[in-house]
Amino acid sequence: MSKKIVVVGSCMIDFTSYVSRLPKPGETLEGNDFKRTFGGKGANQCVAAAKLGASTSLVASLGSDVFGEEYLQILKSLNVDTRYIKLQKDIHSGIAQITVAESGENNIVIILGANALLTPNDVNDAYDLIQNAVVLLTQFETPLNTTLQALKLHKGHGISIVNGAPAVVNADLEILKNCDIFCVNETEAEVMTAIQPLTLFNGQEALTKFFEIGCNTVIITLGSAGAIFATRTNPTMIHIPVESVIPVDTTGAGDAFLGALAYFVVYFPNLSLQEQISRACQVASQSVLKIGTQSSFPTKEELSDELFSY
Ligand code: RIB
Ligand code: NA
Repeated sequence: MSKKIVVVGSCMIDFTSYVSRLPKPGETLEGNDFKRTFGGKGANQCVAAAKLGASTSLVASLGSDVFGEEYLQILKSLNVDTRYIKLQKDIHSGIAQITVAESGENNIVIILGANALLTPNDVNDAYDLIQNAVVLLTQFETPLNTTLQALKLHKGHGISIVNGAPAVVNADLEILKNCDIFCVNETEAEVMTAIQPLTLFNGQEALTKFFEIGCNTVIITLGSAGAIFATRTNPTMIHIPVESVIPVDTTGAGDAFLGALAYFVVYFPNLSLQEQISRACQVASQSVLKIGTQSSFPTKEELSDELFSY
């Protein structure tokens, strides 16, 4: 049973505290609300695409705690194919401790747990699924040798998108070379290129650095400033603005963008990449208007019809 979008990535259990502002080092702050939800960049991106109506499968690894089984059921109810999600023994599911400030900003600490056990062999088991995927989507929250193996299996079979999140200083150059589209947000791009602060004005410089280290197509998301992108063959930066909104919770906005991008690449292949990115930005903007991560990702019905026409 093939699926159009295959995500090889993480599942995390998110413990989110809502506070007036982010705490300073050493400070204890009393927050005003708490939620335990299901997250992880891999699963989030998969769910974002599934909520738009994409056919999706997630290759992932959960722990042997109460959350693992519960998460599987939730993914199934969202129509995500879970055949290649393993429940590992003797290890906890991945955990994310998230703090969300009233400004909508957040910070996140993750503990990989079972995600660290996702191996190249698990990817090999999903060989057929991966080779038949129109889009393969991965992130940096699972072991990089597993990501690389997935990219190699998929090579020549469709479009691969790697989201370089969370940030790593020395990313595996083989991964960068082996993916079609590499996407990061401004913070991740700053860490990888040492260009700081990264703005629209030095965006071209950052894109050029990414091409120098082997990337093919690069997208940098800039939050409220939209996104910039360029390709190796057309290296001049293109800016895609996005209508400004007042965010209430930006957690997972990047994941909404990536899931939506995969969706538009698969289901609207005749649109230009610029237009696909623009539509994905619009989906991500909707997600920041609601508290929560997966629960804030819009369904097709909640979005304007214009996003789904040629
Ligand atoms: O991108 C947001 C996600 O990052 C959260 O769901 C959390 O699990 C962390 O992985
Ligand atoms: Na949100």
